[in-house]
Amino acid sequence: MKPIQVGLLGIGTVGSGVFKVLRRNQEEIRRRAGRGIEITMVADLDVARAVEIVGEGVAVVSDARQVIANPAIDIVVELIGGYGIAKTLVLEAIAAGKHVVTANKALLAVHGSEIFAAAQRQGVMVAFEAAVAGGIPIIKALREGLTANRIEWIAGIINGTTNFILSEMRDKGLDFAAVLKEAQRLGYAEADPTFDIEGVDAAHKVTLMSAIAFGIPVQFDKAYIEGITRLAATDIQYAEQLGYRIKLLGITKRADKGIELRVHPSLVPAARLIANVEGAMNAVMVQGDAVGTTLYYGKGAGSEPTASAVIADLVDIARLHTADPEHRVPHLAFQPHTLDAAMD
Ligand code: NDP
Ligand code: HSE
Repeated sequence: MKPIQVGLLGIGTVGSGVFKVLRRNQEEIRRRAGRGIEITMVADLDVARAVEIVGEGVAVVSDARQVIANPAIDIVVELIGGYGIAKTLVLEAIAAGKHVVTANKALLAVHGSEIFAAAQRQGVMVAFEAAVAGGIPIIKALREGLTANRIEWIAGIINGTTNFILSEMRDKGLDFAAVLKEAQRLGYAEADPTFDIEGVDAAHKVTLMSAIAFGIPVQFDKAYIEGITRLAATDIQYAEQLGYRIKLLGITKRADKGIELRVHPSLVPAARLIANVEGAMNAVMVQGDAVGTTLYYGKGAGSEPTASAVIADLVDIARLHTADPEHRVPHLAFQPHTLDAAMD
């Protein structure tokens, strides 16, 4: 079967990671998906830099609409970010009958209802594993692994930048501005870091998890949001002396009337696992009525961790479009290949 063709919009931190990981692990990914997955076209404002990343054999253009208009492209991956041009392009890709994969939590938290409705009308998928907690497969966990449960609550550290800032301020006594600069240099922070430090990014993510867990529309405008900008180094020290760590938590839970949706700094007892999540790492706890509490931990930002989640979505879509029924059920598909590999 011919490889599924992917058009990439935006080849910055995450886009370049997607390209590298797909190349590096192409054989394993092909076996797991049941067919190859190839990025055949890339759009980026900086064409010269994009060509440097992808080399020969991939068409690079500056106008993203050329990717959407290409009938050979099956999946459009939007990695531009923001609510502006990204929204227009995602809706145009859907209207053109393309599946869409995006890491853009801001776009989906604010315009998700419109985008998902458009995708449903067109019969295409909008997949967004990378939009929440980077490399941690939390969307899959909520949708698949925990599907038998009545979810009671979700609470997590879902913004790497703020967790990095809080950790560095506590451990090294550094000031807020210096640590934020370092988070930007490391590629954790958003283009506009206000979203990170004011809790908006975490609110985007918790809004998406809430919609999946409780089957409600995405309602970012209903979230209570408080960031870490009003925290002083002394707050962190006093908390420490009292046996607590300050963490920016995103929380959604069933309440007497409806669903709570909030992001704010929280005092977490120092002995708790989640209090010991340091640096840019993320951790999400989910309470289900059957399974109890589960905890998901890993890199919530960065080029390749986020690429790992984007590619997981590409594999899901490729599996649905494979002629080989064996690959439509991932677990069955995995086992024989493991044995094949061992016998080679
Ligand atoms: P970057 O800013 O590194 O990359 C965005 C790229 O898109 C840049 O190369 C930019 O070009 C390009 N671009 C901007 N406008 C256009 C356009 N109109 N057409 C084509 N290309 C365009 O962002 P990230 O890779 O960090 O983030 C991408 C998305 O992933 C965002 O939604 C972000 O929230 C999300 N995300 C990011 C994570 C991370 O760790 N970085 C983790 C999880 C999600 P130029 O630089 O020339 O402007
Ligand atoms: N700016 C985000 C963070 C990137 O720091 O967590 C990952 O979504």
